[in-house]
Amino acid sequence: MSAQQPDDVYTHGHHESVVRAHAARTAENSAAFVIPYLTPGANVLDVGCGPGSITCDFAELVAPGRVTGLDRSADVIAQAAALAVERGVDNVDFAAGNIYDLDFPDESFDVVHAHQVLQHLTDPVAALREMRRAAKAGGIVAVRDADFHGMSWYPAIPELDDWMELYQRIARRNGAEPDAGRRLVSWAQAAGFTDVAPSSSNWLYATGHERRWQARVWGERVLHSSFADQALEYGLASEADLARISAGWHRWGSTDDGWFLIPNGEVIARA
Ligand SMILES: C[S@@+](CC[C@H](N)C(=O)[O-])C[C@H]1O[C@@H](n2cnc3c(N)ncnc32)[C@H](O)[C@@H]1O
Repeated sequence: MSAQQPDDVYTHGHHESVVRAHAARTAENSAAFVIPYLTPGANVLDVGCGPGSITCDFAELVAPGRVTGLDRSADVIAQAAALAVERGVDNVDFAAGNIYDLDFPDESFDVVHAHQVLQHLTDPVAALREMRRAAKAGGIVAVRDADFHGMSWYPAIPELDDWMELYQRIARRNGAEPDAGRRLVSWAQAAGFTDVAPSSSNWLYATGHERRWQARVWGERVLHSSFADQALEYGLASEADLARISAGWHRWGSTDDGWFLIPNGEVIARA
């Protein structure tokens, strides 16, 4: 197990506006590159599982195999467990735990997965080493992370440029890497993996419904989540700045032809 357990700051926090956005994720829209490995009977660990919507999808795919969802936040783990009950998924367990020190013997899982987690860590390479330890020989470690500087949008809205700049500064102040997507291959190699298959896939917000949804998510997060708390605490923005950026998100969301593209890096690394 990893001797080092950095006390990382999770940039997004678990405000309702954040968790609601994460809970909309599915295996299909967020982990399609992993689905071919989720065969019936496989045992899966989903690290940094958040509210567990992807984890429950995994459980349905691998039944009668078992899925374990792990997150550092006990609060979000309780929400994930409630979701499993609500969906009637009974081959999944949720527990609090830390990616740097997984409480499992070596070679426990066929698939060890982390979605949008490495970008928040001060030592993603140590996390990947620990994920590898928990994976069976011949099993896989699968990770997917957004690449913030790779995001693009239309129309040009100056407040969204300010949002990007602020997000980068907050995440870097936390010792994290918001442009994680492009670094996944490099991190996997540094963690000792030799068989690394890269891919990428996008999230796109370009229909009226998608635009309103994405604008609401970030319009709220900018004002009320840990993003706002940290921006103020670190002296990187004022409340007026945050209000202006939030209004910019809503202005983008009310366009008829707006586009917001989020590229994600993906890696399947053979343990
Ligand atoms: C962006 S969310 C992604 C949640 C989920 N994987 C999804 O995509 O919906 C990142 C999650 O990683 C968790 N996390 C951050 N650092 C962690 C650590 N050191 N160990 C375990 N979980 C961690 C956070 O609590 C948060 O729930």
